[in-house]
Amino acid sequence: MTIREARFSDAQALAVLSGQLGYPMQPQEAVDRLQVLQTSDTDAILVAESEEGAVIGWLHVCGALRFETGPYAEIAGLVVDEAWRSQGAGAALVEAGAEWAADRGYPTFKVRSNVIRERAHAFYERLGFTRSKTQVVLVRRLDR
Ligand SMILES: CC(C)(COP(=O)(O)OP(=O)(O)OC[C@H]1O[C@@H](n2cnc3c(N)ncnc32)[C@H](O)[C@@H]1OP(=O)(O)O)[C@@H](O)C(=O)NCCC(=O)NCCS
Repeated sequence: MTIREARFSDAQALAVLSGQLGYPMQPQEAVDRLQVLQTSDTDAILVAESEEGAVIGWLHVCGALRFETGPYAEIAGLVVDEAWRSQGAGAALVEAGAEWAADRGYPTFKVRSNVIRERAHAFYERLGFTRSKTQVVLVRRLDR
């Protein structure tokens, strides 16, 4: 398995995997979002590719600056194909994301994970993340 940056030709596979994460996406939406993220200095979409050349997982890492806490990097999304789980692809993507962030000088790497994803929490803790706090996410619809 290898880890590399996503390409437009990965769009179909990225969209299918996004559906497995619970965020269905059309291939064209994947292309449109990749186009924006690839021109961003503070984002990267990394993919795990099998020896046969199939995209089996992706990770979105992004850098951010908060007035109150300063800069940090975050895993904004991570999914590995159901057929490829528990073979190390998730850990390899997280390590590649951490390297991307460290190379750019971010002092910390964080991830927010839905409280229902208990197996994912154990996965992150094994990779050195520690629980910091529990949040409530509130959303307001904007009509224009
Ligand atoms: C969490 C996830 C990215 C891990 O990828 P992976 O390639 O299976 O990870 P690794 O092989 O490096 O590590 C395996 C560990 O991941 C965790 N894991 C395995 N299957 C999982 C699943 N369906 N859901 C959540 N965690 C899982 C387990 O802790 C597993 O350890 P085990 O094999 O000893 O049981 C992957 O399981 C996944 O895509 N889950 C669904 C989406 C998700 O929860 N994403 C994280 C959002 S914050």
